[in-house]
Amino acid sequence: MNINTEAPEIDERPLHEIDASDPQIYLEDRWQPVFRRLRRDAPVHFHESSPTGPYWSVSSHALIKAVDTQHDVFSSADGISIAETPPEDELKDTDVVIENFIAMDPPGHDQQRATVAPSVAPSNLANFEPLIRERVEDILDHLPVGETFDWVDAVSVELTARMLATLFDFPYEDRRKLIHWSDITTSTPELTGGELIDQHQRKEDLMECAQVFVQLWQERAAADPKFDLISMLAHGKDTKEMIQQPMLFLGNILLLIVGGNDTTRNSISGGVLALNQFPDQYDKLQANPGLIPNMVSEMVRWQTPVIHMRRRAMRDIELGGKTIREGDKVVMWYLSGNRDETVYTQPDKMIVDRPNARSHVAFGYGIHRCMGNRLAEMQLRVLWEEIGKRFKRVEVVGDVKRNANNFIRGINTLPVQLHPV
Ligand code: HEM
Repeated sequence: MNINTEAPEIDERPLHEIDASDPQIYLEDRWQPVFRRLRRDAPVHFHESSPTGPYWSVSSHALIKAVDTQHDVFSSADGISIAETPPEDELKDTDVVIENFIAMDPPGHDQQRATVAPSVAPSNLANFEPLIRERVEDILDHLPVGETFDWVDAVSVELTARMLATLFDFPYEDRRKLIHWSDITTSTPELTGGELIDQHQRKEDLMECAQVFVQLWQERAAADPKFDLISMLAHGKDTKEMIQQPMLFLGNILLLIVGGNDTTRNSISGGVLALNQFPDQYDKLQANPGLIPNMVSEMVRWQTPVIHMRRRAMRDIELGGKTIREGDKVVMWYLSGNRDETVYTQPDKMIVDRPNARSHVAFGYGIHRCMGNRLAEMQLRVLWEEIGKRFKRVEVVGDVKRNANNFIRGINTLPVQLHPV
């Protein structure tokens, strides 16, 4: 199996030619030398021409945290991915403009987050854990031992679909619809670098998603409050009118679906891949299963499923010796921060007992720090506890297929074989 190593030609190219937003480098898993160069020579770097316009690239661990904590200067209100939201008079009929609290600043952000957050707080998660374990056991007990199969579809996607259906109390038999809606939300040409999916169909499907959730909302609003996410929104003091603003409603639903889907799914797949690339770590884990909670943080660092978040400068500001001007677009490359050699020794290696694994920025930092981080960690911990009881090795036996996407670091296919204990 190939681990991407040095690529000398990147070091010799003029800096202005280095564009970390090129989706191809994620498809081919050759982003490492790009970010290594940026961290070394220009941790705050202005990229004048990219397919999504000019932007500042922030690539070191410390400076990413500096941007993420100054939400009064670096606004999220204008969108959180490098892709531009087109101005209203330039909208195509296939564009779906959605609003949600990840793309808001205080006070709107804080109010909406506060309403939904209790559903994934540690106290509520304790209620979810037995159900999640049961669903994990069921998946693992039905895997085809002795055959080659795709881990992504059979485990990563299936488990996250079950988890999301649990969170929303969504009709269980339709759970794969949640995955489909999440996938098409992040499949815009700006992120994938091309018209890979039919944008008319995408819009139609997102409208179906809105309809299904409006109906669920109405049912939950009419019933007593419960602890699923829809019921919490429908009964929350600050969110119960949200249904009057359809794009805000759709946006927040999609935020929770995407937030809980692509991210957890790819941490699950990335973890299996990492243990195969570094078999010494598999041995360490088997000798000491108590390392699982730390390993979970390390897997999230290593995979970094959300590659970047974007902000807009609300005034001129100095950052890393450069002057960012009011109105400039600023991209925090979490994937790069998590490979920062001044913070992590052997940053490209997954080390299950890495002492500072939890310091990663894969969940962001500051007021937007991932709301579902404890839920994600709990799922991954339960999964690896149950894998360890059943299998000595989950062996990767074929080619890994990845996403051409500069926002979600996705693994589409991971052929594996199981070796029972
Ligand atoms: C390994 C799994 C996950 C990763 C890597 C991840 C990553 C992130 C990142 C990078 C952010 C933005 C942080 C920032 O701007 O500073 C975020 C926000 C968010 N995530 Fe996650 N996430 C994960 C799992 C989940 C799950 C399971 C949920 C489900 C509830 C979730 C829901 C959210 C929400 C609602 C936000 C918006 C928070 C805000 O704006 O205040 N995430 N996540």
